[in-house]
Amino acid sequence: MADPSKITRLRVLSGMRSTGKLHLGNYVGALKNWVDLQNSGRYNCFFFIADWHALTTDYADTSLVKQNSIDVLLDWLAAGLDPKLSVMFIQSHVPQHAELFVLFSMITPLGWLERNPTYKEQRENIHDKDLGTYGFLGYPVLQAADILIYQAGYVPVGQDQAAHVELTREIARRFNQFYPRRDGSGFVFPEPQTLLTPSPKLPGTDGRKMSKSYGNTVMLTDPEPVVRQKLKTMVTDPARVRRTDPGNPDVCPVGDLHKIFSSAETINSVNAGCRSAGIGCIECKSWAANALLEVLKPMQERRRQYEENPRLAWDILEAGSAQAREASEATMVQVRAAMQMSKEYEGAG
Ligand code: TRP
Ligand code: SF4
Repeated sequence: MADPSKITRLRVLSGMRSTGKLHLGNYVGALKNWVDLQNSGRYNCFFFIADWHALTTDYADTSLVKQNSIDVLLDWLAAGLDPKLSVMFIQSHVPQHAELFVLFSMITPLGWLERNPTYKEQRENIHDKDLGTYGFLGYPVLQAADILIYQAGYVPVGQDQAAHVELTREIARRFNQFYPRRDGSGFVFPEPQTLLTPSPKLPGTDGRKMSKSYGNTVMLTDPEPVVRQKLKTMVTDPARVRRTDPGNPDVCPVGDLHKIFSSAETINSVNAGCRSAGIGCIECKSWAANALLEVLKPMQERRRQYEENPRLAWDILEAGSAQAREASEATMVQVRAAMQMSKEYEGAG
């Protein structure tokens, strides 16, 4: 098991909401980066499933939350997150997050939350759910607690989360101002840095950004025939109508897939073949499918052992959550002391 008490290496922390099975866009945009950070051996990595955050939008029907958490976990393990190297846990099993959330709620000005761009955008765009709740407004306060409770140095996230990490830094600063350590030795919270995931544009089968809500995804669990079928229906360079028309891989979503997943050799063949009409789109797409399957197959292989024995995966989450409770309680002891609210009896007056 990874040892969370070792803070000689910098801590990395990130999370994903329990949204269910992941697609290639989730892999390229986040998960692959997490696996690389883990394997670099330079950090103490904490990765967690934000099931409370899932409730901010799905509170009215909680029937899928737990299964969604398990599906996310299986994809993490499939992609190569390794419980020997990273602490994987589930937010709702670490009540310390909620305690710190309450304390942060006391010091976070409402204006900071109302001005948050994600909040404004979602309130304007999501109409099939009532987002007029206290929990939804407080989403970034909970996220700040998730991050700061591990005194994390780095938070690997996509650009869409950068504003939340910035708010986390502001909350850390405000806490540190009000409650410096009582022994004069500085502050409880470091200001975490965003580790922006270098995310190449990954198109879905319709050419738009791959996204669950567009229904254009390739799932990490899609079997080979499904992957091949999805690629067959994928849109291509619209200028290439007939087999004899030359095309341009730089304006073709299939060309984008090659750039991310194919070998330099294949990319050269695509470039030459497409521009000279030497290859057809059907052949080109089958090469792209091959490249995707080379990434997906080892994942699906690794996933199998956990699908056959889901208990194994749950045990990993339980053990990780115990480690997370230990690490987060260590921070809470410092938080309570700085706020003069420690649990020890300190005498009268
Ligand atoms: N808000 C993040 C997302 O939607 C999930 C998340 C919750 C998170 N808490 C976090 C990410 C803490 C990084 C750190 O993707
Ligand atoms: Fe796109 Fe490949 Fe067809 Fe060129 S040959 S248009 S890159 S699918």
